[in-house]
Amino acid sequence: MKKLLFVIGGAGYIGSHMVKYASKAGYSVVTLDNLSTGHKDAVKYGEFEFCELGDSEKLNTLFKKYSPDAVVHFGAASIVSESVNNPYKYYLNNVVGTLNLLEVMVKNQCKKIIFSSSASVYGNPEYSPIDEIHPKKPINPYGKSKLMVEQILADFDKAYGLKYLVFRYFNAAGHDLDGELTERHEPETHLLPLIINAAQGKKKYVEIFGTNYDTHDGSCVRDFIHVADLCEAHLKGLDLFFKSNEEISSDYFNLGSSNGFSVKEVITSVKKELNIDFKVLSKPRREGDPAVLIASNNKAMKILNFSPKITKIKDIIKTLI
Ligand code: UFG
Repeated sequence: MKKLLFVIGGAGYIGSHMVKYASKAGYSVVTLDNLSTGHKDAVKYGEFEFCELGDSEKLNTLFKKYSPDAVVHFGAASIVSESVNNPYKYYLNNVVGTLNLLEVMVKNQCKKIIFSSSASVYGNPEYSPIDEIHPKKPINPYGKSKLMVEQILADFDKAYGLKYLVFRYFNAAGHDLDGELTERHEPETHLLPLIINAAQGKKKYVEIFGTNYDTHDGSCVRDFIHVADLCEAHLKGLDLFFKSNEEISSDYFNLGSSNGFSVKEVITSVKKELNIDFKVLSKPRREGDPAVLIASNNKAMKILNFSPKITKIKDIIKTLI
């Protein structure tokens, strides 16, 4: 029988891709989303249920209605800079919302979850690439909210036997390969879509937030992982849940490509790929930004058997145009 997944945040950028990939991989999928940042028309597969994570009663009704085998949880506020100015929103949505969800899961005997965490839990790297045992010292409320949930998950495993896979994403980028889905944030704050907008004349210029970081060219360095690769990693995680003979142990994985590209390098690559020039402005640093974030993905390769396929920035850019 088909396993049934609840995809929380399935109307959002990464969630809507996962809904598609999981459906194509043979799962029954139900999206739960409050449409605060997601789009209902991005949910192209499975069922859709409007739900706020704060609404325990509705969550409980939905768990009774569908009896999901596992939850894949993308539903969160996820803009680092916004979290610095509005921490309340981040602790409420990401921590309190997830706590409600976990309580309802346990009550309904649904004890498998893949949780979307973030490279932001590490803060400023003490070494690079960052592995999973690197100290966790988040420097913004977004990263702190993700780390709090990681800690709650560990306690829920101990007390209630909830099994989790925590995936710490580095910088998700790109669109699905057949162009059915896109990235639609309103307002857009992410680097790659903003650069593409400038290249396509939808924006007058690109701003570089910080040109005096301690990096090879002064701009921040990030590890971009294509959304199709991210979804593949989730499918591998679901395999661990459903295809292992024994009960799995909860675990943590970095999901990145292990390649770092600076903001300036990304801008140059887009100009080259599209053969187009546009205005670039140097701006002060954005609060909450670590200088460098590069993943070691050795553990994901070894245990999940995951290796990202679209790792060159020019190939990620190609899926965006
Ligand atoms: N940047 C610019 N100009 C812009 C936009 C971004 O210079 O117009 C810079 C940022 O300062 C940062 C880098 O580009 O140095 C990447 O910024 P993004 O906003 O695209 O992404 P973040 O690294 O801030 O955050 C993203 C996700 C988080 C996740 C994090 C993990 O939004 O949810 O990656 O690395 F936690």
